Amino acid sequence: MQKRNFIRTAAVTALAASLGLAWAQDTTFKIGLLLPLTGPFASTGKQLESAARLYIAQNGDTVGGKKVQLIVKDDTGVADVSKRLAQELVVNDKVNVLAGFGLTPLAMASATIATQSKTPMVVMAAATSSITEASPYIVRSSFTVPQVVTILADWAIKNDIRKVVTLVTDYAPGVDSETWFNQRFVAQGGVVVESLRVPLRSPDFAPFLQKVRDAKPDALFTFVPAGVGTALMKQFAERGMDKAGIRVIAEGSVTDDDILDGMGEVALGVVTAHHYSAAHNSALNKKFVEAFGKANGGLRPNFMAVGAYDGMRVIYEAAKATQGGTGEALLQAMKGQSFESPRGPVTIDPQTRDVVHNIYVRKVEKVGGQLWNTEVQTFTAVKDPAKAGK
Ligand code: PHB
Repeated sequence: MQKRNFIRTAAVTALAASLGLAWAQDTTFKIGLLLPLTGPFASTGKQLESAARLYIAQNGDTVGGKKVQLIVKDDTGVADVSKRLAQELVVNDKVNVLAGFGLTPLAMASATIATQSKTPMVVMAAATSSITEASPYIVRSSFTVPQVVTILADWAIKNDIRKVVTLVTDYAPGVDSETWFNQRFVAQGGVVVESLRVPLRSPDFAPFLQKVRDAKPDALFTFVPAGVGTALMKQFAERGMDKAGIRVIAEGSVTDDDILDGMGEVALGVVTAHHYSAAHNSALNKKFVEAFGKANGGLRPNFMAVGAYDGMRVIYEAAKATQGGTGEALLQAMKGQSFESPRGPVTIDPQTRDVVHNIYVRKVEKVGGQLWNTEVQTFTAVKDPAKAGK
């Protein structure tokens, strides 16, 4: 008798546990956020996480009738770790959506997990053009490098820059920067005298900058990922290259808002193209910069923050439209979204799943005693040129 009671109790407990699990899955909407929170790209992780949390604080932690659960994991900036964590988030946590991806190799490594499990994957940071082609479940809220550097090449030609040396970080977005800038610049009569690549890990810019100096170009065109620009500009100044009349034109990650104010005088006058400046003049952006600073000890949001903030918006609206859905339905609801972002107007192209937004030419200026990327020219609704016909 006692034994039977025990078995009955155990069966009831097991049933309750499984119902509890089903209930939890039914009533929670899980976002798995993969970020480099330690290692050389920790500043990117911090910007992304802070912005995702700000979005939730401002928009509530219930969406489509479900409780939002943000599960944050540190991928340490290593692709294999990112892939393993993505797999765990899908298999063990059964997340509705994967998000984050601070660097291209991290996004590329997780793409097959998204495809195999049919889990939408929102790329909030990485910017190599081909990322969205690595899985039909990828949606991008960050930007693409070709979108930005082609506009900078046009600006250079119009501003009498004829001879450049290029210097990029030696991995996919650096190669994209070099390829798309060079092609567009040379097609309009520009000359690229030398194309240099520095390693991703612990770069020493000194020998490369010496080569730039020797080549005596009108300008140095450069790309380094967010957080790395300070070291580059410091070594540029140490060699007196700013005084030698070599201008710097760059993909906007180089004068990333997170670190710009600490770069010093050498950054003044640097011209970049990008999709977001914390100085963007709109009411929505002013509110965003203020709220982000207030929540993070005065930190200035950079383009990584805006990528995460907008990515959360895309996720929330898709969750609303599908009552906290999953898979294909959730993905479909992300495509074609159009909204005003702190960066300006944004659309998720329903065909390519890539971001279409304004690209701005900016110049570093001192305003109110601080360095800012002042927007001087706007190009509206720019598509990734690598997907022009798609
Ligand atoms: C990338 O790895 O795709 C990436 C990272 C940081 C940037 C830009 C691109 O600032």
